[in-house]
Amino acid sequence: MKLTQNARFSTVCLHAGQEPDPTTGAIITPIYQTSTYVQEELGRHKGFEYARTQNPTRAALEGNLAAIEGGKAAVAFASGMAAINAITSLLKSGDHVVMSDNVYGGTFRLFDKVLSRYQLSFSSVDTADLDATERAFTASTRMLFVETPSNPVMRITDLAAAADLAHSRGARLVVDNTFASPVLQRPLSLGADLVTHSTTKYLNGHSDSIGGVVVAQHEDDIEWLRFVQNAAGAILSPFDSWLVLRGTKTLPIRMAQHSATGLALAELLEPHPKVRKVYYPGLPSHPQRALAARQMSGFGGMLAFDLGSRDAAARLLKSVRLLALAESLGGVESLISHPATMTHASVPEEHRHALGITDGLVRISAGLEDVEDLKEDLNRALAAV
Ligand SMILES: Cc1ncc(COP(=O)(O)O)c(C=O)c1O
Repeated sequence: MKLTQNARFSTVCLHAGQEPDPTTGAIITPIYQTSTYVQEELGRHKGFEYARTQNPTRAALEGNLAAIEGGKAAVAFASGMAAINAITSLLKSGDHVVMSDNVYGGTFRLFDKVLSRYQLSFSSVDTADLDATERAFTASTRMLFVETPSNPVMRITDLAAAADLAHSRGARLVVDNTFASPVLQRPLSLGADLVTHSTTKYLNGHSDSIGGVVVAQHEDDIEWLRFVQNAAGAILSPFDSWLVLRGTKTLPIRMAQHSATGLALAELLEPHPKVRKVYYPGLPSHPQRALAARQMSGFGGMLAFDLGSRDAAARLLKSVRLLALAESLGGVESLISHPATMTHASVPEEHRHALGITDGLVRISAGLEDVEDLKEDLNRALAAV
C-alpha cells in the first residue's frame, strides 16, 4: 500500500501519513499510548525519546493533514484555540495584527483579553472589503488573520487578493479554514502562509474529540511551531490523533453530503415567511456567491438565518427535535445554536450587532441525517414560531 505521486484527493485523505504498522501489519495506525520510549543505550534510540516531543500516532496525523491541505508540514495541538495561540507566538511584542471582524468568538477573546496584555495590538475589520483591510494595516502589521466563510454570517474574503496584500506589506496571511475544510478550500494554494483548523469540527467530524492543527509552508515557521508545540506542551493526545485520522478517511464524502444538505436547508428557509434573511454562500442571493464559487469547490454545511427577535429564535430552538441545540459544528449530527448567547457571547453587544449577529440569528451545522427528516423538523419548529 503506497501512495503514488499523483494520487487523487480522496486517496490522499485515506492514506497519506500512514503505513501498515511495521511490527504487526495492522492496517490502522495504532494508538501509541505511552509517555516515554526505552533507549537501547546512551544516545541510541529509535527517534522517540519522550511523548510530548514525539508520538507516532500524532506524527501520522500530522503527515496526513499536511498532505490534505497541500502544506509542507502540520503541527497538531490540544484544541483549535491552542493551535491559534501557537500561531500568535510567531509574533513579537509591538507587532500588530489585522483580523476578520467576525472570527470565532474565542479567537477574538484570545486577542482582546490575553494577547493585548503582551504588547500585541490588533484591528478587527471586514476582510471581505479589501480597501478597508488595507487601511487597517500599520507599519507594525505582521499578520493578516482571516476566517472565510466567516462565522456565523458567512462573509467571504478573497484569499488570493488577501495574500497579495499581506505580502506586499511584509505580513503573513493566516487562514482559519475550519468552516470550509480542505475539501472545499485550499488557502495555501491561493497564497496563504499558514492554515489552521479546529480539528474538533469537520476534520474529526464525529463530535467526539477536541483538537487543532497548523499547516505551514515555510521552513522557519515549521521549525518554530514544532519548537513551541514541545516547549509550551499543548499537544494533541494519541487517542485524539487516532480519532482525527479516522475522520479524514471519510472527509470528502462527508463534505459532499454536508454541502448538499446545507444548500437544501438554505433553500427551504429563504422563502419561508417567518425568516427575514438567510446567510449561505451557495444561494444566488448571497452577495459574494461568485467569489465563493471561484475559490471554493462547494459551499459547505454551515448556514445562519434571522428570525427577527430573540423570542422567535428561542421558540424555534425549543421546538426542534432532531436538530440538537448545542455549540460546535462539523459533526455527523445536525446542530442548531444561538450565536449571540452561545458561540459569540464574548463579543461585545455593539460589535455583535454591527456584524449582523442579532438576537434573532440562528446557526445550523447541517449533519448527515436524511435531509427530508431535517426539513420536516425545521418546518414543524417554524410553525411554532
Ligand atoms: C472557526 C473556528 N476556529 C477555531 C475554533 C476553536 O476551536 P476549539 O474549540 O477546538 O478550540 C472554533 C471553535 O468553535 C471555530 O469555530
